Amino acid sequence: MAEASADPAIRRYNGGHDWRGRPAPPLSVRDAETVIDQFATNWRAFAATGAPCGVVFAIVDARSGAAVGCCGVDDWSKEDVAQFGYWVAPSARGRGYATRAAILLTRWLFHLGAARVFLTIVAGNEESVAVARRAGFAYEGTMRAHGVWQGERCDVLWFAALPLEWAPDEGR
Ligand SMILES: CC(C)(COP(=O)(O)OP(=O)(O)OC[C@H]1O[C@@H](n2cnc3c(N)ncnc32)[C@H](O)[C@@H]1OP(=O)(O)O)[C@@H](O)C(=O)NCCC(=O)NCCS
Repeated sequence: MAEASADPAIRRYNGGHDWRGRPAPPLSVRDAETVIDQFATNWRAFAATGAPCGVVFAIVDARSGAAVGCCGVDDWSKEDVAQFGYWVAPSARGRGYATRAAILLTRWLFHLGAARVFLTIVAGNEESVAVARRAGFAYEGTMRAHGVWQGERCDVLWFAALPLEWAPDEGR
């Protein structure tokens, strides 16, 4: 977690930033442990409430068990709409881990009863757009100037999947 948080793309697209889009510093190992403790708290809350807000999965290689990334539920609304996000460490990109994780997480959310699952992707993050498309998400539109990064406004794209129409590439 600490190493990944220093990767420029993860810092840009997954890390926190202030109101002017100035990124938070990378996590120390201690910070990363605190974040992981919070994930454990979120899992316990899910067990109690049934709403998986803030639950996070490690993405691991199915054969070796090596941890390569993370995906997690950012929100589950009272209308049963779920939002999630993901990242993969730079050395593990280009092998389909994020697509597979997005498909498995979406399937899990539908099994839990999500009526809609969506992703927001900053315009220009083509790698993430490709993950969304391969995982069977439909582009729904662009929220213009919705985000901010380093003092510049940026557009944010919406992608969503609905249970009855969702058709991921099952070969993934
Ligand atoms: C977005 C991000 C997760 C995408 O990672 P990625 O490795 O490109 O995506 P995947 O793991 O799905 O791998 C897809 C690549 O593996 C290839 N691949 C190989 N086997 C594959 C398989 N079984 N299934 C899918 N793709 C496969 C694909 O062809 C693709 O390669 P290409 O880009 O050369 O066409 C990564 O760039 C990242 O962590 N970025 C920073 C954080 C971020 O942007 N998070 C998302 C915020 S919305």
